[in-house]
Amino acid sequence: MLELKNLYFTVPKGEGNGVRNIIDGIDFIFEDGKFYAITGPNGSGKTTLAKQIMGINPVSEGEIIFNGTDISALTITERAKYGIAYSFQQPARFKGITFRDLLTIATGIEDEHKLLEIVRRVGICPLSFLDKEVDAKLSGGEIKKIELAVTIATNPKLAIYDEPDTGIDLWTIGPMVNLLKKEMSSGQTTTIVVSHNRAFLEAADVILIIDSGKIVYSGGLEEALPLLEDLSVCTYRNTCEGDHDAECFR
Ligand SMILES: Nc1ncnc2c1ncn2[C@@H]1O[C@H](COP(=O)(O)OP(=O)(O)O)[C@@H](O)[C@H]1O
Ligand SMILES: [Mg+2]
Repeated sequence: MLELKNLYFTVPKGEGNGVRNIIDGIDFIFEDGKFYAITGPNGSGKTTLAKQIMGINPVSEGEIIFNGTDISALTITERAKYGIAYSFQQPARFKGITFRDLLTIATGIEDEHKLLEIVRRVGICPLSFLDKEVDAKLSGGEIKKIELAVTIATNPKLAIYDEPDTGIDLWTIGPMVNLLKKEMSSGQTTTIVVSHNRAFLEAADVILIIDSGKIVYSGGLEEALPLLEDLSVCTYRNTCEGDHDAECFR
C-alpha cells in the first residue's frame, strides 16, 4: 500500500514573490495490485508527483508511506530496493550502452537465454533490439518501449510509468495496456500510469485527475469523462476586443 499524506512540492516563485505549491496537499491511498491512471492538464503536476514517489523530487511537506515504512526521505536507490520502479516521460539516452546492458544493470542477469526470455515476456520490443544502442539514434517510441521493458524486468511491487504511450505507434498501445495488466495481475504489482490515452483510462481500476497540484477526482471512467471535458478548455477575458469571454485550449 502506498499512502500519500498531505503531500507538497513547493518551489520559490522568484525574487520576493513567495512560493508556488506544484503539489498542493495531496492525500491518497494506492491499494496493492490495482491499476491507477493519473491524468489532467499539461503542467498540473503529474510528473512532479510521480517523481516524488520515486524520490527524484524531494518532499517539501507531508509523508510518503510505502508498506508501512516512511520513505519520504529515502534516496531513489533505497526506494528501488523496496520495489518501486519508475519509467521516465523522457528517458535518458546513453551513447555506447545497449538495451542488453540496461537489462543486465537493472536485473543482474547476464545469461543470454534469460535475457531473451525477458524480452519475449515483455513482448513489445523485437529480439533484435537487444543489441541496439540506447543513444540519440533511437526513435522516441523505441526508447519508450525499452524503458518500459527495463522497468517490467525488475518485477517491481510498485511500477510508475510516466506517459508510456508517448511516441508509441497505434499497433503497440493495445499490447502495451494488456502487458501492464498481465504483469500487474501475475506479480501483484501496483501500477500507476500517467496518461491521457483512452486505452489506459479504460484499463484502470481507478482514475485520478490532477489539476493545479490537487487531486480533483478519483473514481471510475464514466464519472471522470465530463470532468475531463471541463478541464480541456480554460476561459479568459478578452480585453483587447471588448469585454467578452474567449476560450483557449489548455
Ligand atoms: N523543480 C521545479 N521548479 C520549478 N517549477 C517546476 C519544477 N518542477 C516542475 N515545475 C513546474 O510545475 C508544473 C507541473 O509540472 P509537471 O509535473 O511536469 O506537469 P505535468 O502534469 O504536465 O506532468 C509546471 O508548470 C512545471 O514547469
Ligand atoms: Mg508530465
